Amino acid sequence: MLSYRHSFHAGNFADVLKHLTLQRILNYLTQKSKPLVYVDSHAGAGGYQLTSAEAQKTAEYQQGIGRLWQRDDLPELLAEYCQLVMQFNNQQPQLRRYPGSPWIAAQCLREQDKLFLHELHPKDSQTLTELFRKDRRCKVIAADGFKGSLGFFPPTSRRGLLLIDPSYEIKDDYQKVVTLISEAHKRFATGCIALWYPVVDRYRINQLEKQLQDSGIQNIQLFELGQRHDNNHFGMTSSGMIVVNPPWTLKADLESTLPWLSHELGMTGEGYYRSEQLVAE
Ligand SMILES: C[S@@+](CC[C@H](N)C(=O)[O-])C[C@H]1O[C@@H](n2cnc3c(N)ncnc32)[C@H](O)[C@@H]1O
Repeated sequence: MLSYRHSFHAGNFADVLKHLTLQRILNYLTQKSKPLVYVDSHAGAGGYQLTSAEAQKTAEYQQGIGRLWQRDDLPELLAEYCQLVMQFNNQQPQLRRYPGSPWIAAQCLREQDKLFLHELHPKDSQTLTELFRKDRRCKVIAADGFKGSLGFFPPTSRRGLLLIDPSYEIKDDYQKVVTLISEAHKRFATGCIALWYPVVDRYRINQLEKQLQDSGIQNIQLFELGQRHDNNHFGMTSSGMIVVNPPWTLKADLESTLPWLSHELGMTGEGYYRSEQLVAE
């Protein structure tokens, strides 16, 4: 039973870090003309109405994209990310819609690239299918992305990105992401893998980091953006991205925006960021 719906959370501070990181990775990977395969293990609906009852109920986007929207003092790379969101809003002055990872990836990718998008929720997979009905590069797969993603690796072009972005509503997900990363890396050792994680219980994230450090996989970076200090009262206090085989430009790219972002999106005196080489090259 899937109860998580991303429409309640679209455009929040966690999406900002996730989608900025995705854009920076694809910006780098598309510099070579060889075809690229993008696999999204948990794709969501592809786009969200911020005017919907779900989005308005929590209004999480107001503490995320809402704080960046149409500011003229954004760091350069954050302005590029906001440009994508504006494109999704048809360049209208009001923020009404927020794009999901598949749409952002589809914008960054080229004619020769392919997207394989897993989404298990029947309604969201249908919305996603409709969104990409005319895009021949995209295939929506209404099945379990933990299982299905591995089938696309290694791609024949030997160039690809796997985005792993589960809802973690089932606690098993913390273990499943480690297994998926290890299996994907076994099949495609040079591929880029990006994992999103929420900090609700720091103990789980410490364990996740330790498991990856002990996995034998090299060259792993971690980026985290915190709204509040760790505590047990506010649900998700921060979130992060763990990237295997990151582009060599990624750390500097994100470090050019994270100090600013943590100041602007963090609670007064509590916003913070991490940018670490979790495992050496
Ligand atoms: C955090 S959301 C994805 C958001 C999306 N990646 C984005 O950035 O726009 C997680 C999604 O995974 C879906 N889901 C949950 N378990 C799944 C599974 N085993 N395989 C594929 N999708 C799953 C949920 O229905 C939900 O839409």
